[in-house]
Amino acid sequence: MRLFPQSPSKTQNPSRLINLFIISSSVFTLFLLVSFFLVFTSSKLEHISSLSQDEYSSPSTSLEHIVFGIASNQKSWSAKRKEYVRLWWKNQSMRGCVFLDSLPPDHHRHANDTSLPPVCISGDTARFRYTYRGGLKSAIRVARVVSEIVALNHTNVRWYVFGDDDTVFFPENLVKTLSKYDHGLWYYIGTTSEVYEQNRVFGFGMAYGGAGFAISAPLAKVLAKVFDSCLERYPHLYGSDSRISSCLAELGVGLTREPGFHQNDIHGDMFGLLASHPVTPLVSLHHIDHVNPIFPNMTTLNALQHLFKAANVDSQRMLQKTVCYDRWFSWTIMVSWGYAVQAYGNHILLPDALPVQETFSQWKKGSVLTGAYLFNTREHHKDPCRRPVVFFLDNVSSGAGRIKSTYKKSYENCSYDMASPRRLEEVKVYSHKLDFDMKQLQAPRRQCCDVLPSSGNKVMEIEIRECKEEELIHMHP
Ligand SMILES: *[C@@H]1O[C@H](CO)[C@@H](O)[C@H](O)[C@H]1NC(C)=O
Ligand SMILES: *[C@@H]1O[C@H](CO)[C@@H](O)[C@H](O)[C@H]1NC(C)=O
Ligand SMILES: *[C@@H]1O[C@H](CO)[C@@H](O)[C@H](O)[C@H]1NC(C)=O
Ligand SMILES: *[C@@H]1O[C@H](CO)[C@@H](O)[C@H](O)[C@H]1NC(C)=O
Ligand SMILES: *[C@@H]1O[C@H](CO)[C@@H](O)[C@H](O)[C@H]1NC(C)=O
Ligand SMILES: *[C@@H]1O[C@H](CO)[C@@H](O)[C@H](O)[C@H]1NC(C)=O
Repeated sequence: MRLFPQSPSKTQNPSRLINLFIISSSVFTLFLLVSFFLVFTSSKLEHISSLSQDEYSSPSTSLEHIVFGIASNQKSWSAKRKEYVRLWWKNQSMRGCVFLDSLPPDHHRHANDTSLPPVCISGDTARFRYTYRGGLKSAIRVARVVSEIVALNHTNVRWYVFGDDDTVFFPENLVKTLSKYDHGLWYYIGTTSEVYEQNRVFGFGMAYGGAGFAISAPLAKVLAKVFDSCLERYPHLYGSDSRISSCLAELGVGLTREPGFHQNDIHGDMFGLLASHPVTPLVSLHHIDHVNPIFPNMTTLNALQHLFKAANVDSQRMLQKTVCYDRWFSWTIMVSWGYAVQAYGNHILLPDALPVQETFSQWKKGSVLTGAYLFNTREHHKDPCRRPVVFFLDNVSSGAGRIKSTYKKSYENCSYDMASPRRLEEVKVYSHKLDFDMKQLQAPRRQCCDVLPSSGNKVMEIEIRECKEEELIHMHP
């Protein structure tokens, strides 16, 4: 608490506020007011207090309040993983370290490279036992990033955020997501695996490390104090994240799940997962070396750089899915903003358009359970000509308050007639920059879109907008 001068007013609890009210005045009307407050808002007290903090007593959470602890090792950092971190690291406004086992041989040449986080060398872990057969003892070194980062005594920290060297964060969306929570309380925020079997084995209550996760500063400080003594009870566990979640469990703290973090325990083509993102800001992507490049005909790194062109223009809209219907041709069009547009030459009801297409292959081979996910999937047709036409992000530009993103048709060799969306070469999507306020973050609503009257046969234009109060997303007769 010492380090957070704004905390006392932030964590002031509502019942104390009410006491103050009663003591400071015996006027009957005030008493009535208080009763009114209690009767009508008792279930919302926490909500009100968290809103008033942000609005009145302290500036809202920003990147400056976050300290990152990134787990890597000398070999993979030097080889290529640092390029993934360079994608999202902002030298001006971020603090933290990448934790390595030893200094890279060429470190002196990169010491001034401010487009990467500084290097911290992990402490010695020889004294800890590791008994998981076939596992990697480095799990202990990586787990201790949570205590070693706290020991650096950064000031004015609200959240510690952890990730691997192949975790790609979307920093603005991370900030938005964390700003929903009171950093003065104890929070452990992240996500599980997408795969049922992974969670059955490693736990549904664990934040998977590669997806990235956040621990509020007061919790991280307490965890850091007790961590080494707790670690000794878990030599038999596999990963660093299992150790961290076990020690948080010993402190009595469970996981708060945020679906914008992505562990991505899949192989192959990630398309389906990216194209059906939940209505929440995209916080992270992981395992990018285990999947195909996310855009065709690009390297993994180029493809991510391409994705960031969109993220740099409208971070909060990244992958947000809007579905619109062309009633003239009876087409169903799905925009996964900043990534891809899909056009179906038929009518698909909205609930059938939302599940994830199973374009990817299983993380692990095995029983039925290893192919069971925590979300509904829909079939990805074996014949590419019976799949929707896909348009991938080509370019994004903004001006005059409007953002234009263009999507080019992916190569295919299918025959079609003029009533088919396959005749289109390009889709242009117009939108406005999203900036969610607290209410929209807490109660998100999918946006609507319209197919605009088009000038030619080869281009479709779409406008994304807020839905009207009673608007339903469906094909109009
Ligand atoms: C790094 O920066 C320091 C201080 O600005 C400078 O003295 C040093 O020569 C630089 N090293 C390299 C390799 O550029
Ligand atoms: C941050 O990095 C950019 C290029 O990546 C560089 O132009 C800028 O000077 C750096 N800023 C600081 C404070 O190091
Ligand atoms: C952080 O603070 C502790 C306690 O005051 C001190 O022992 C330690 O040396 C400090 N660490 C750094 C890196 O300044
Ligand atoms: C892939 O990219 C190269 C160079 O940019 C281009 O010549 C080629 O046509 C592309 N291939 C496909 C299938 O788009
Ligand atoms: C992409 O958009 C930018 C910004 O408007 C523009 O400068 C650039 O020429 C565009 N690139 C292509 C290939 O259209
Ligand atoms: C496209 O498909 C036709 C018919 O299936 C085939 O004959 C032709 O070789 C294909 N062209 C390419 C470039 O794959």
